[in-house]
Amino acid sequence: MPNLEKEINRRRTFAIISHPDAGKTTLTEKLLLYGGAITLAGSVKGKKTDRHAVSDWMEIEKQRGISVTSSVMQFEYEGFCINILDTPGHQDFSEDTYRTLMAVDSAVMVIDAAKGVENQTRKLFKVCVMRNIPIFTFINKMDRDAKNPFDLLTQIEEELGISTCPMNWPIGDGVDFKGVYDRATKHIISYTANGGQREAESCEADLTDPELDKLIGEKNRRQLLEDVELLDGASDELDLERVSKGKLSPVFFGSALNNFGVEPFLEGFLKMTSPPLPRVSDKGVINPTDDNFSAFVFKIQANMNKAHRDRLTFMRICSGKFTRDMEVCHVQGGLKKMRLSQPQQMMAQEREIINEAYAGDIIGVFDPGIFSIGDTIVSPGSDFKFDGIPTFAPEHFARIRHKDTMKRKQFVKGATQIAQEGAIQIFREPDTGMEEVIVGVVGVLQFDVFQHRMLTEYNVEIINEGLPYSYIRWIDNEGIDPKKLNLSSDTKVVQDFKGNYLLLFTSEWNIRWALDKNEDLKLSEFNKN
Ligand code: G4P
Repeated sequence: MPNLEKEINRRRTFAIISHPDAGKTTLTEKLLLYGGAITLAGSVKGKKTDRHAVSDWMEIEKQRGISVTSSVMQFEYEGFCINILDTPGHQDFSEDTYRTLMAVDSAVMVIDAAKGVENQTRKLFKVCVMRNIPIFTFINKMDRDAKNPFDLLTQIEEELGISTCPMNWPIGDGVDFKGVYDRATKHIISYTANGGQREAESCEADLTDPELDKLIGEKNRRQLLEDVELLDGASDELDLERVSKGKLSPVFFGSALNNFGVEPFLEGFLKMTSPPLPRVSDKGVINPTDDNFSAFVFKIQANMNKAHRDRLTFMRICSGKFTRDMEVCHVQGGLKKMRLSQPQQMMAQEREIINEAYAGDIIGVFDPGIFSIGDTIVSPGSDFKFDGIPTFAPEHFARIRHKDTMKRKQFVKGATQIAQEGAIQIFREPDTGMEEVIVGVVGVLQFDVFQHRMLTEYNVEIINEGLPYSYIRWIDNEGIDPKKLNLSSDTKVVQDFKGNYLLLFTSEWNIRWALDKNEDLKLSEFNKN
């Protein structure tokens, strides 16, 4: 097999997504340990008092113990080259999660066995289901008292509308947790709380044999026998076609903290996930093994390193091979030729400059401010665009001003750059300048992040005045004068920074009212320009 194909076929690129505190960081750390990318448990996350993961760049993440930005880590494991993309663990940042999901071929969903699918993260998981990518489930913390495993599966199926197929099954939980039963090999992997040991003991198990009572106890054996019979009769069969379409999620049970069930999960996951998949462009499907390089931008992050005031653009390579110093073209920039500056990858804590990367990999490049989310980069001679990344309609709005009039320049710069990253959306009232802007966000925590970043990165204190609007619609009619529209008194006309007119509404009733009173008015939830 030619080298290009070999390199691409051994790549696996996935996102890891969870409720805050379900164990995403712990699981990531264990996966990195297997790959030898880190050697010490605890290097990904420090003690509780100094809570932050390598992926948590921003101060606010440390303060709140949540992960806001997403980071990328690469490691090698048994011939595979694995890219893990971390995602924000809070639903207020669902849009960021969605963008990250655009850059991966599958997702791993971590669920706390005691909590199941929690209310506040349902939206986050739904975003995953919306993308129709394969979803693998790791049910964590089996060493603690857990919900009934059948109830957990039912909850996933009902809440997320995706079928489940347990690959292994827990034997007991909490202090009585004895391990998992692998359904395909009919082996029991015994649980030992050891934290670091890699190999757990495994033995063949005849569930009808009372000899097994010595290992797991009679009650557990009988329960397991009953459960497994029920599963074999009633649960969905492992159908890889359905897995690949995101309709069926293979489920694994374990305890990331105790490094239990992580290896079977990783092995099973690697067997079932696909290498980098073809991507749709406006000129047809682009195959990953195409000789020509192509990539798209899915994330922009400014000031990751405050000392350097850098702006990193993350792109997913969709086809071919990238080599340092090669010439590429930025399609949205009029096919302008350029070299990508200081291409880098993350390896656990380290960022390192890379010399080459392949389809499936994620690279970060320094960006003087030319790229936008969704942009396509191709080899000279190619000219196509990948499908864009939709923006979510903001649901919360605030009028933002700078406190100190001397800081106008920094205010404009900060608001514009943070908006370019896609962390917020900014609008203005018609015929006003940039003294104040209207900021729209999907989740209210994004306001806090914005305020914090304006202060720490741009040294601007802002005044944030909440606005009562919850719905946004772009006006599709060209050349319309919004002043002539007949609108309810609590509907607001604003403009985005491309000059398009929009309406902000307080209720759906008001949207209907506007459509009723203005016969030709055409509104859309997303910006089509
Ligand atoms: P997150 O990234 O999804 O937010 O979760 P994280 O890995 O930070 O884990 C959240 C807490 O749950 C941590 O405890 C972690 O040690 C614990 N944890 C993770 N996996 C397991 C598991 O399998 N079993 C048990 N019992 N606990 C688990 P913490 O007290 O918040 O932090 P720390 O003091 O351990 O750092």
